Order: sequence, then C-alpha cells, then structure tokens
Amino acid sequence: MDPSARVYSRFNLRLYDLVVLVISNKWAWRCPTSSTLVPFFHKDLGERAHLDVGVGTGYYTAKSAHNLAKTENVTLLDLNEATLSTASSRLRQAGYRGTIDEIHHNVFHPLPDHLHGKFDSVSLFYLLHCLPGSMVDKGPKVFATLGVALRPDGVLYGATILGRGPGVAHNWLGRRLMGLYNKKGIFGNADDALDDLKNALEGRFEDVEVKLVGVVALFEARRPKTG
Ligand SMILES: C[S@@+](CC[C@H](N)C(=O)[O-])C[C@H]1O[C@@H](n2cnc3c(N)ncnc32)[C@H](O)[C@@H]1O
Repeated sequence: MDPSARVYSRFNLRLYDLVVLVISNKWAWRCPTSSTLVPFFHKDLGERAHLDVGVGTGYYTAKSAHNLAKTENVTLLDLNEATLSTASSRLRQAGYRGTIDEIHHNVFHPLPDHLHGKFDSVSLFYLLHCLPGSMVDKGPKVFATLGVALRPDGVLYGATILGRGPGVAHNWLGRRLMGLYNKKGIFGNADDALDDLKNALEGRFEDVEVKLVGVVALFEARRPKTG
C-alpha cells in the first residue's frame, strides 16, 4: 500500500479529525471544515446512490446522515480496509438506514463493472493531493476511472489542497506541513496547480466549475464525455 493510504492506521484515524479537520483546514489550508467543506459535501449528494472515494474517518458521510435520508445506497471506496470499516460504522451510528457497501480498491485501477453508471453523485475529498504523481498525470487517470461510475445526469465533486500556481499562497504552517507530508509521501501535491486540475476535469466532463478557498480547490463536474 502507498504511504498515502498506509498512514491511515486505526491509531492515526483517531487523530485525523482533530489534526486535519479542526486544526489544519482552518489554520494551514484556510478552508474551514464546518462552514465551507461540510456544506459543499452536502450540496451535491444524490437521491439514489452516492459513492465516497478516499473515505478517511468517514467524517463527511457521518455528518450527512440526515441529508442522505432518501439516498438508498452509500458506497465507500478506499485502498485501506481500516478506513472502510471505520467510515461504515460511523455512518450507521449516525443514523443512516440505507445500504452501505464497502469497496476495497485502488482508485488508479478500473472500477468493477457493477459500479458503472450506478451513482448520482461521486465525492472525492482530500484524495487527489494524497496521490503520487503530477496533476497532469493523476488527474485524467482518476477522473477516467470515476467518471464511469456516474449516471448520465450525475455529478463528481470534491476538494484538494494545491501546491503551487496562481492564487496559491501557502502560509508558514502550510509550507511546513507541505514539506513534511510531501517528503513522507503522505501528500503528492507539491506541483498541483489549479489550471492542471481544471484541464484534467475538462478532458472528461462537459461542465466543470472550480473555485479556490484558501489553498484548497473545490470542484464540481457534470456531463461525462463519452468515448
Ligand atoms: C486525506 S484522507 C481523506 C479522508 C476524507 N475524504 C476527508 O476529506 O477527511 C485520504 C484517503 O484516501 C485513501 N487513499 C489514498 N490513496 C488511495 C488510492 N490510491 N485509492 C483509494 N483510496 C486511497 C486513504 O486511505 C484515505 O482514506
């Protein structure tokens, strides 16, 4: 398993919500969890089936149990089995009553056939910046893999911390964390820029919106291109 997935051991998952969702999102990346990321996660949730990719502690899906009341199925996909079981239990404990499927899978590999065309919405929050490689390389691969999971009227959306480029100015804490995490292979985003993300999405989707909050890109993509 890559360091980007291996780091999420059961021990580290206990620290994740505090270190990433409370401290880093506010003070390092300047994209607060409660006022920005949670509402953005809720906004595009589908009514029939939702796929969350790179689930971590399952914070966002658990926070959405109420918003998912009508959604029949939530599928969780991750390379790390500890995150899948943690996120699945947390969603159930939060009161979600539909079916929950866990898919132990690497996002760089093609999705199993039974997931093709199944989902109204696919979320990938804080996954891309963890993946190794440049955005020019990993973006098109990931969007090609996940695009096939969408229904024709579906939406793929997410958030990723950028490394450089116009509009991306890291503060002191951000620079320290970026250096440490990229050195350890927990992040692979030193060269990730907004334009490269936008181009990768536009290569796969007709309708793309991207905006920057702090150093985090929030993106939504609709109408997957065929062929
Ligand atoms: C930073 S966490 C994000 C957790 C959550 N979405 C959030 O925003 O709090 C990244 C997640 O992506 C998973 N991951 C890393 N590389 C992966 C890969 N190649 N395929 C699938 N999941 C991967 C990790 O195991 C981890 O659960």
